[in-house]
Amino acid sequence: MSGGSPASGTLPETQVRAMFDRIARIYDPVNTVMTAGMHHAWRRRAADLTGVGPGSRALDVATGTGDLAVELASRGAAVTGMDFSPAMLELARAKAPELEFEEGDALALRYDDAEFDAVTVGFGARNFADLDQGLREMARVTKPGGRVVVLEITTPQRPPLSWFFRAWFDRIVPLLGRVAGDSDAYTYLPNSVRRFPGPEALGASMAAAGLTDVRWILTAGGIIAIHSGTRAP
Ligand SMILES: C[S@@+](CC[C@H](N)C(=O)[O-])C[C@H]1O[C@@H](n2cnc3c(N)ncnc32)[C@H](O)[C@@H]1O
Repeated sequence: MSGGSPASGTLPETQVRAMFDRIARIYDPVNTVMTAGMHHAWRRRAADLTGVGPGSRALDVATGTGDLAVELASRGAAVTGMDFSPAMLELARAKAPELEFEEGDALALRYDDAEFDAVTVGFGARNFADLDQGLREMARVTKPGGRVVVLEITTPQRPPLSWFFRAWFDRIVPLLGRVAGDSDAYTYLPNSVRRFPGPEALGASMAAAGLTDVRWILTAGGIIAIHSGTRAP
C-alpha cells in the first residue's frame, strides 16, 4: 500500500507501526473504556473457538499488548505472540513474561508451514496492508485440521445498533482519542472498521486463503464478529 490517511481508514505499514508505537501506553485503558470492559469476554469466545489446550501450540498474530495470547495460554497452550510494534510488545512482555513474544510482520510470517495447532488475530486483521496475504500466511503456518480464528469489529447493519454504532464510533471514539492525546489514531480506528469487509466477505477471503468449514458468530449486538476456519488437509 503506498498511500492512505486516518480519514480513509488505510495507512501504509510504516505509519500503522508508528501509530501503535505511539499509542501503546494508552491502548489497554482506552480499550477498556471504549468497550466497557467487554473485550475480555470477546477474547474468551475467540480462544474457545481455537480448541487449544495443554500440549497445543498457538500463535497470536498482531498480538499487541498480548491479551489474546494470555487468554490462549490460560487454556494450557504454549503460545507465541508476534507483532511489528516494539512498544506494544514491550507491554505484552511486562504483562506476561512467561510467554514468548516476537517482533515480525504478519504478511511474511517467519514460521514454518504447519507449525501451530491454532493461529489467532484479534483486532489486527483490519490493519493489515494486504488482508488476503495476512490470511494466507495464518493458514500456511497452521497444521492441517488446526484452527484459524479472526476476532474483529464489524459494522452492524440494522437499526438501532447501527445508529448507536455510528454515534459511538464517529463521535465518542475520536473524542476519546483527543482526550487521550492521539486524535489521528482514533480517527483511523472507526474508518478502518468501516472499510473492512463485512462478515460474509471476510468468510469468503478466509476460504480463499485455504480454510474450510468457515463460520462466524456475531456478538455484542452485531458489533463484534468472530470468524473461525479449519486448515484444509
Ligand atoms: C488494534 S491492535 C490489536 C492488538 C491485540 N491483538 C488486541 O487484541 O488487543 C493491532 C495490532 O496489530 C499490529 N499489526 C498491524 N499490522 C501488522 C503486521 N503487518 N504485522 C505485525 N503486526 C501488525 C499493530 O502493531 C497492533 O499492535
